[in-house]
Amino acid sequence: MELYNKDTESEWQRIVTAVERHRAAPYRLPISSTMQAVLDPLVERLVREQQSGKRLLLDAGCGTAYSTCLLAEHHPDMLVVGIDRSLVRLRKAPPLPANALICRARLEEFWLLAHQAGILFERTYLLYPNPYPKRWQLGRRWYGHPIFPTILATTRSLELRTNQQWYAHHFCIALAACSWHYRCMPHAGDQPLTPFERKYLARGELCWIVEAWQK
Ligand SMILES: C[S@@+](CC[C@H](N)C(=O)[O-])C[C@H]1O[C@@H](n2cnc3c(N)ncnc32)[C@H](O)[C@@H]1O
Repeated sequence: MELYNKDTESEWQRIVTAVERHRAAPYRLPISSTMQAVLDPLVERLVREQQSGKRLLLDAGCGTAYSTCLLAEHHPDMLVVGIDRSLVRLRKAPPLPANALICRARLEEFWLLAHQAGILFERTYLLYPNPYPKRWQLGRRWYGHPIFPTILATTRSLELRTNQQWYAHHFCIALAACSWHYRCMPHAGDQPLTPFERKYLARGELCWIVEAWQK
């Protein structure tokens, strides 16, 4: 059986080619009326908060919103928005602090509408995104997805966490192709920020943190 080698030069080239293609052609996605109805009030609220000087954090793919709560507690002066498409997970959310809110939505549509509305997050957290590990799934991973340039355009800085070293490495390749600064480090192994992180650390797995910011 031929194994997918994720660390070849051709893989690096494939990621750069995908990112450059996505940067050259803005992502066009028809937004359903259902999604528009969910997202319009959220985006309007975020615009109002931003105009009043409130700084915004995005927990993208927040799952059960455990991290949304922790981030809101750590940053009481900011508004933290958790978004996830899974109602099953969001229903398990703990009571939210006043400076946190959660919304069930698809992130692709949210990022497009947030960008159109001029929203700029202080930091976007991508905490343990689905890795989609098969070679043909590059376009589903956030860094290979057509929405990637819009993710970067809507935030001053970004934090990715993953238990897949290759994913962190590929993410850094995509960031470099967009001229972003980044640093990649292993997780210290303490104080899990999310349920997935807690599970991986409890198993003794190494987790990776990529911090990135605009040049
Ligand atoms: C592996 S889980 C991680 C959840 C949480 N961040 C954690 O670390 O515990 C990935 C989450 O991303 C959400 N997700 C994946 N793709 C999404 C999309 N396109 N829009 C919204 N949520 C998405 C899934 O529903 C799931 O809850």
